[in-house]
Parts: sequence; structure tokens; C-alpha cells
Amino acid sequence: MNELYITLLMNDHSIIEKALVILEKQLARKKKNWTTIQVLFEILWDYGEKNHNMKEEKVYFPLLLERGLPQSGPVAVMLQEHEVERNYLSKFKEFLSKSEKTEEEIQSFVSEFNDYASLTKDHIWKENDILYPMGRKFVQPDDVPYLANEFKRIERESLGEGAYTRYKTLVDALEKESGERIDLLASIPTEVIGNMLDALPIEITFVDAEDRVRYFNKLDKEKIFARTLSVIGRLVQQCHPPKSIHLVNKIIEEMKAGKRDEATFWIHFNGMYLYIAYYAVRNENGEYQGVVEMVQDVNPYRALEGEKRLLDN
Ligand SMILES: [Fe+2]
Ligand SMILES: [Fe+2]
Repeated sequence: MNELYITLLMNDHSIIEKALVILEKQLARKKKNWTTIQVLFEILWDYGEKNHNMKEEKVYFPLLLERGLPQSGPVAVMLQEHEVERNYLSKFKEFLSKSEKTEEEIQSFVSEFNDYASLTKDHIWKENDILYPMGRKFVQPDDVPYLANEFKRIERESLGEGAYTRYKTLVDALEKESGERIDLLASIPTEVIGNMLDALPIEITFVDAEDRVRYFNKLDKEKIFARTLSVIGRLVQQCHPPKSIHLVNKIIEEMKAGKRDEATFWIHFNGMYLYIAYYAVRNENGEYQGVVEMVQDVNPYRALEGEKRLLDN
């Protein structure tokens, strides 16, 4: 689990990354929506530069150095990259304020933006995956609440109350408005998605909003609960023993009514200790799309103690 201060920094990163991705798509279009582009750059400047980068430059980096991280280490590199980002953004700002833009200017702007975007994405990756984990070794317990409080203060002072929620709502709306919802699965063939679900040590069944079984994993593999293709398309109520139907109905009814998001059970079964969980599947508007059941033998996890950081062989 991340400490709150790291979560706050990473949440900022996800807003910045989203803005970058929407911009990349906008700028790749023939017909560009300059109003949307302008708003996205304002997000990068206001939220990314004046808020996020200041949390790092004014509070987080100085603290790491004070706690012993070498001056010449990653912090120096991060600061240098912030400077490059800033220069790019100032240049873009100037360009966007022009009322007339020639095709040639637009082209060089787009290509510079792409350089800036890949630099910034790379920068975010380095912080999330290298600097923040490394920094945890230097941050003292008392620093943890201090950092979170300082981050909140900087955010409030630079952008006002509730900035994170406002900016997150804004990028989400822009993502939707420009029809650019980021669908990470779109690039993966269904076969690979199926194999990925089969590779997990869990059994998954999906029941749609009409209560019909639509999918289960490990079709021709060994399973805890045998399932055959004949259940596909059948009502879930027909797939459960009569004595548990009332439970199934109650869970589904409450999920449909928005009163419940999950239901969990654990039972002994054939020498296993099964954890059985039902999770409501909803779209981004919260509308019920079905329920996913997950069955897992948790015996191997119950025996865990201490830590294991090395490979077995
Ligand atoms: Fe940074
Ligand atoms: Fe950052």
C-alpha cells in the first residue's frame, strides 16, 4: 500500500497523462478542436506545472535531499526535466495565443508537442517506478503526514479547494466529449484476453444485466466447480441449487438497485478453503451491466507469513 503522499502525487500523474493522451489524439486529427486543445494545455500548465511540479520542487525533493538522497542523484535529473517541460509549455502557450496559424507552424507545433509528451510520460514513469519507491527509504514516519498536508496546501493555494476532483472531472469529460475514451483492451485480441483470464488462479463467471450467464474462464481446463458450455445463455437462477436461489436473487436485486457492490462468502470444499465473491459490474455512469463471480482457493494465501522477495529457483 502506498502512503497518502505518494497516492496524491500519482493521482496528479494520472490527470497529466490523460491530458497528454487526449491531446495527442486531438493533434493527430485533420480537423483540430482548438478550444479543447487550449483547455488541455491549461490543465497541463495549471494542474501539472503550478500544482504538481511545485509539490515536488518545493516540498518533496527538498525533503529527500535533507534526508540524505544525494544531490547529484535522480532529483537533479527530475529538476532538469521539469525545466525542459516548462520551456516547452511556455513556447506552446505563445503559439496558441496567436490568432493566425500557418499549416507549417501547426506541423512543427505538433511535432514539438510529441517530443514534449514522450518526455513527460517518461518522466512520470521514472517517478512512479523509480524515484517514489526509492524515496520511501528516505522518508521518515513523521514526514508522511507532513508531505500529504503540504501537498494539499500547495494544491489549495494554487488552484483552490477541491482542485483534484475538478480537474479529474474535467479531463474525464474531455475524454468523453472528444470520443477518446482510452480503451486499453482494444489493442489486445480476444484470444489473448481469454488466455490472460485463464492464467489467473481464479475462476470467473460473468452474468449479464438480464441475468444470463455469458462467460466463464478455464473452459476446457480443470475447475473447482465444473461448468459446461450448456450454461451459456441460461438464467443464473437456473444454474444454482434451489436452496441458494433466494441469496442469488437478493444479491442481484440489490446490485441492480445500486444498494450493493459486492457479496462475499467463504466455505470449506474438497480440502480447499474457497473464497467466493460477487462484484457488480457497472459502466462509468454507474449503470448495472452484470455481475462477475470469482471463486478462489485461498488456502495457499492463509499460510503466508513474513515476506518473500526472491524467486524460488
Ligand atoms: Fe516531476
Ligand atoms: Fe511528478
